Amino acid sequence: MSEPVDWRADGVPRSPRFDDIYHSESGALAQAKHVFLHGCGLPAAWAGQPQWRILETGFGLGLSFLSTWQAWRNDAKRPRLLHFVSIEAFPVAPEDLLRAAARHPELDELAQALAAQWHGLLPGFHRLCFDEGRVLLTLCIGDVQPMLRAQRFDADSIFLDGFSPQRNPAMWNHDTLKQVARFAQRGTRIATWTIARPVRDALSQCGFRLARAPGLAPKRDCLQGVFEPSWQVRRRGPPPEAPVATGRCAVIGAGLAGAAVAASLAQRGWEVVVIDAASRPASGASGLPVGMLAPHVSPDDALLSRLTRAGIRATWQQLCLRLDEGVDWRATGVIEKRADAIVRLPDGWNAEGPNESWHATPDQLRAAGLPADNPALWHARAAWVRTPRLVHAWLAQPGVEVKQGARVARIERSTGAAAMAWSLFDAAGALLAEADRVVIAGGFESTALASSLPLQPVRGQVAWGHARADAPLPRTPLNGNGHLISHVPDGDVDGELWLTGATFDRDSADLAPREGDTAFNFERLSRLHPGAAKALAPAFERGEVHAWTGVRCASADRRPLVGPLQPGVADSVWVCTAMGSRGLSFAALCAELLAARWHGEPLALPARLAQALDTQRALPMPVPVPHQRPG
Ligand SMILES: Cc1cc2nc3c(=O)[nH]c(=O)nc-3n(C[C@H](O)[C@H](O)[C@H](O)COP(=O)(O)OP(=O)(O)OC[C@H]3O[C@@H](n4cnc5c(N)ncnc54)[C@H](O)[C@@H]3O)c2cc1C
Ligand SMILES: C[S@@+](CC[C@H](N)C(=O)[O-])C[C@H]1O[C@@H](n2cnc3c(N)ncnc32)[C@H](O)[C@@H]1O
Repeated sequence: MSEPVDWRADGVPRSPRFDDIYHSESGALAQAKHVFLHGCGLPAAWAGQPQWRILETGFGLGLSFLSTWQAWRNDAKRPRLLHFVSIEAFPVAPEDLLRAAARHPELDELAQALAAQWHGLLPGFHRLCFDEGRVLLTLCIGDVQPMLRAQRFDADSIFLDGFSPQRNPAMWNHDTLKQVARFAQRGTRIATWTIARPVRDALSQCGFRLARAPGLAPKRDCLQGVFEPSWQVRRRGPPPEAPVATGRCAVIGAGLAGAAVAASLAQRGWEVVVIDAASRPASGASGLPVGMLAPHVSPDDALLSRLTRAGIRATWQQLCLRLDEGVDWRATGVIEKRADAIVRLPDGWNAEGPNESWHATPDQLRAAGLPADNPALWHARAAWVRTPRLVHAWLAQPGVEVKQGARVARIERSTGAAAMAWSLFDAAGALLAEADRVVIAGGFESTALASSLPLQPVRGQVAWGHARADAPLPRTPLNGNGHLISHVPDGDVDGELWLTGATFDRDSADLAPREGDTAFNFERLSRLHPGAAKALAPAFERGEVHAWTGVRCASADRRPLVGPLQPGVADSVWVCTAMGSRGLSFAALCAELLAARWHGEPLALPARLAQALDTQRALPMPVPVPHQRPG
């Protein structure tokens, strides 16, 4: 359920929960510009900067965000990236966002774009992405203090915007403001509309030098400040990673993982060379003719479930931005057949909630040609994707160069007066590339260059072919024990593409197709969807079915690995691999995580989830130095 908003007769939005108004009568836009933007010296302060990172407490109706985005758009000297991180415990309905913005026609286009991505706002972090990924909004949905604790970055500006301190003390108390001060670096500016004494006292005690400024009617004053503590700031916990300057990066592997990294880095101004042993991109596991994008769901909303949701959001934005819906991918939703008689979901998940998976209805099952009483889930935000097309689209990002037919055998520190830190050679000793930083994204073959990481090859085979458009195959992809995707348009080819599989052979990297696997895939299809198996049986019998094989790369805990290969020693060589069976769910998220860590940007994931993807967990523990007895 969305947070209800009362719209007063004068058009001012009011919160029944807090019995307070979202904005002053003089208008939200004027307030955002005067109090927050002007209060933090924007847009002048961000001129010519590579990125600007804003922290806001209280997203509300999003008008401070929309006005900041608008100011960024209108500024010729805008930073390349604008990060806006906002905390909100009680998200409103998208209709209320639109209604608030409707009073300001200049915000209309931006508000529509915001409302279009305003979905699935379960507790946790959600990264929304605008203007081709240059404006990144991280919504932290939850109570202010735990959300602040879960995020870590150096903010350039801070907007404090709870309801009034009397009605909404949690947003302004000393502990909250102390958490906020953790984000400030010397010189960070802060702004708010309240000059309440306890707020001023707490901010001063936290190291902000404050000044009253003329307010916007009916308020006489507002507050501006700058972080200038009289003491040396000592950070608790790990410091945010120091940002690195952009330069040249070599990415090894032109599959989903490498292509996504290349696009995320090029977006931030890196010159990227992607090197691949094969003669064309997407020749490894990412050559899969069509893949399924669907979340993992568990009754306790386990780590993997939360990671796949964040990943799907990241991929979805890329699909919308770079590919043609209906041709390269389709937002079909997915039905997941379950073996358990009662499919358990986290408490409160249903068709009306912010969750995007719930029990499939009898109508949905019947429409897919399944018995209406089959235990099953419906994933509303799920799709099929022509995997290689996403790889190609990422590699087409300006700033990315692709070098095919080149296998990297050695990565060495450059010697002598070389400007670049790393040199990459093939087995014959020929220099393939030089770069400041290297990312190994070679799927299971990454082992050859990253032997310290335990990676497991998992061979898989699918069966695929073409069927008439009127073939009785379900229009909605099915997942469960095996999967089936059908009715995928395939250009000029006669008929529509279908695909079913897949097999799992651990520790095998054998790419030769196996007849036994095709028979196995058919047998499993017969259980998953007997009607489809019946329709496709003649093609299987006549040997008209193709087999496609690929090798997945899995880590021990089945989560991707993103991070430095040897922390502290050679931390400009990174790894981004182990996408397992979920390259479509993870590649975009991991690439953005890698780029964010390199640049000290806010992360799209809470710290604990980001850590769960880090290479650190898989690397061997450093050997302790033996204690030397004196004498
Ligand atoms: C049968 C099957 C079905 C699948 N179905 C789905 C699905 O429905 N949905 C989904 O999300 N995922 C699915 N997956 C998983 C998905 O395909 C992978 O997770 C994903 O493609 C991995 O991408 P990658 O870039 O890490 O690896 P790859 O695509 O394997 O790319 C690695 C690249 O690195 C290159 N390389 C390696 N070493 C070197 C080197 N030393 N020098 C130069 N180049 C090098 C290789 O040539 C290769 O091109 C499936 C996988 C299989 C096998
Ligand atoms: C004044 S409104 C913010 C207005 C907003 N900045 C805008 O531009 O529309 C304050 C917001 O703080 C949120 N809020 C209140 N208490 C909170 C808490 N404890 N944790 C997180 N958010 C909270 C409210 O739900 C409300 O949306």
